[in-house]
Amino acid sequence: MPAIIEIIQDDITTLAVDAIVNAANNTLLGGGGVDGAIHRAAGPKLLEECAGLGGCATGDAKITGGYGLPATHVIHTVGPVWHGGGTGEAELLASAYRRCFEVAHQSGLKRIAFPAISAGVYGYPMCDAALIALSAAQAALSRYPELEQIIFVQFSEGAQQIYRTAAMQLGIVLG
Ligand code: AR6
Repeated sequence: MPAIIEIIQDDITTLAVDAIVNAANNTLLGGGGVDGAIHRAAGPKLLEECAGLGGCATGDAKITGGYGLPATHVIHTVGPVWHGGGTGEAELLASAYRRCFEVAHQSGLKRIAFPAISAGVYGYPMCDAALIALSAAQAALSRYPELEQIIFVQFSEGAQQIYRTAAMQLGIVLG
């Protein structure tokens, strides 16, 4: 099956894929935004497993079960806080995406859904974040032939349009 990149407007916690990605913080002990929504939907066993992981560095990723979620796994990553772009934010955000794909590959996962990591509370400009996210997906597709579906999930219509424009700029044909 040829791998596809999709951009959709939805609640990521409802998706029955191999893994949804959580835009977490360094503690991995929950928070607001998509992190809070994922923990609420997964139930307390997710927090129990996260508590044993010893946190997560910015730009890294760690995997857990999905518990009460329709997704079988959660890949927790930590994107950078936006400080204006001069403190390595772009490289750290690219690293977060790269590590999610590496972790997915190590677990043999084929269908992954991402929120807009760092583009909420952490303040990363959505246009720049979308270009980094989609470039990472392109790179992963050539590196990991087992990938079948990469879904970028936005809450708002506006964010979805920004992703679609970024995909056009990169010449990505969407599924
Ligand atoms: N489904 C899809 N997208 C969502 C959902 C959802 N259910 N909920 C929010 N978004 P954010 P960050 C979008 O703030 O910027 C937490 O407290 C949201 O509209 O969740 O990486 C963590 O613990 C935005 O576009 O993540 C950290 O402390 C995007 O997801 C901190 O926030 C990311 O927004 C991480 O901040």
